[in-house]
Amino acid sequence: MTRRLLHPSTLFFVAALTGSACHAGGQREPVTVQSAAARGTPTDPPAAAAPATASAGGRSELSYMPSITPPFPELFARMTAAKPTIMQRQLALMQARYDLANRPARGVTMSRSKPLQEGVRVKLPRGATWSNLAAMSPAEIRDKELWPAGFYPLPHTNQAEGGFVFPNSQIVETKRQEGRDLTRFDLDFDLPEHFLPEFPPPLYLTTRPDLGDVSQGKLVTNQNFFQIFEGILNPKDLDGLRLLVTPFPQQQFNLTDDRRSERPSTGATCFDCHANGHTNGTYHLAPDARPEAYRHRINTPTLRGVNMQRLFGSQRSLKTVEDFTQFEQRGAYFDGDIVMATKKGTNVLERGSQVANMADFQELLAFPPAPKLRANDKKLDPALATPAELRGQSVFFGRGQCATCHAPPIYSDNFSHDLRAERFFRPREINGLMAIGDGPIKTFPLRGIKDSPPYLHDGRLLTLEDTVEFFNLVLELKLGDGEKSDLVAFMRAL
Ligand code: HEC
Ligand code: HEC
Repeated sequence: MTRRLLHPSTLFFVAALTGSACHAGGQREPVTVQSAAARGTPTDPPAAAAPATASAGGRSELSYMPSITPPFPELFARMTAAKPTIMQRQLALMQARYDLANRPARGVTMSRSKPLQEGVRVKLPRGATWSNLAAMSPAEIRDKELWPAGFYPLPHTNQAEGGFVFPNSQIVETKRQEGRDLTRFDLDFDLPEHFLPEFPPPLYLTTRPDLGDVSQGKLVTNQNFFQIFEGILNPKDLDGLRLLVTPFPQQQFNLTDDRRSERPSTGATCFDCHANGHTNGTYHLAPDARPEAYRHRINTPTLRGVNMQRLFGSQRSLKTVEDFTQFEQRGAYFDGDIVMATKKGTNVLERGSQVANMADFQELLAFPPAPKLRANDKKLDPALATPAELRGQSVFFGRGQCATCHAPPIYSDNFSHDLRAERFFRPREINGLMAIGDGPIKTFPLRGIKDSPPYLHDGRLLTLEDTVEFFNLVLELKLGDGEKSDLVAFMRAL
């Protein structure tokens, strides 16, 4: 087999081992945000760990994914052996970027009961403070290399390999209910569970606000959806839900040898990621860019409130829920590879009966109740809100400029915006990801936002406090400490 025919992951695997051997021997700082690849000095070990696809000039040899893999037992043995090194490298990166401690915020929970995490978790560069960073121009922050590590785009656990990565809570509960195993043998989830949405999340229906959470505290699967929803949904929506909880073959979970589950797998379901129509924090890579190093990590967005939205996907801007529902299975799920999809088993959904039913159910998923918002303009009711929340609202609509993009009623303008964060840093390689500007990204709605950590399309921000520091710099707002904490209080009320 020639090098060209090897799967990129195989090449990366070899490179990762070489790179990590140097790490261990040389007692390097575990994380070099700016690697040799970006600086152009070919001797630095992390350069060896760059994916083979990130070749010169930001262009790869391949658009199609190579479809030849070693025999499965060989692949399994090699990738299992490489996993500890890959995880060590990624967890070191997470430690360098964030304060990952479990510090629940007092007096505030997600819609059912999981505490929010409090405080700014992105680490500051040595010697910097948030207010002295805010006093600098973007060029000054860039030239002094002071852009905080956690504000850079976040790489996938193994950027060159990509694919679905499920949190442990989802893996355990799916196995318990269905016997289906979502464990990957080549890598694990890289964030502690206290930074994820509550599991299982509550599920609210636009059609039955009187019922509140209809999930009965359960993860909705093919084992229980009928019992939970019969008599609440019409037959068409019930059928749409059935399809949303039915597994179909996918890239990492299929019946061929080219998979990342130990045993052949019947696949994954829509709700494996969009748990109860919300999100469990499962991440993946966006399909659009090539080479692999340029693909965004994407955090699963909630499907709550899709009925009120006009753009779907962080960057693709598909125009309907139907389109989004239809295309994934044809393109090997977020890999945009129609050849691989065929090999592993494409499930072509029929638009009129299947896609329509699935979309119809998704359109029923309501934002969680926000009892402090008025019915008319979805702003705070002064009789119910605290002084901090009301001050936060003034900042949000005033000095903070947040409402220019996050407009009520759903706190989104239904457009995409290019925030141009690359004004603050030079392109660099981070664990196999080429960190450049993100380009235009959909303005995600902020209704129910406290239920949906981590934040931004790639989940690079862990708390609402982090998002305030991020926008304070990106929009050059120079907010005071009081304004910042008031903004957080306001967003928690949405
Ligand atoms: C591997 C986890 C995963 C699975 C499985 C999955 N999704 Fe998604 N979904 C995502 C991610 C990640 C995004 C964000 C994509 C992006 O940013 O381009 C997304 C986005 C969406 C969106 C657009 C939401 C928005 O706010 O823009 C819809 C609608 C959607 N998915 C529906 C579905 C349906 C229907 C299925 C099953 C056919 C499905 N998803 C299966 C992870 C998943
Ligand atoms: C120029 C338009 C614009 C302005 C102004 C703006 N935002 Fe955003 N906001 C965005 C976009 C675009 C995203 C998605 C970015 C991404 O995912 O990379 C976003 C994402 C967010 C998120 C995370 C949403 C999620 O689901 O992960 C939060 C929280 C947020 N903004 C809060 C604020 C606050 C607070 C302000 C004011 C201080 C603000 N934004 C001002 C456009 C804007």
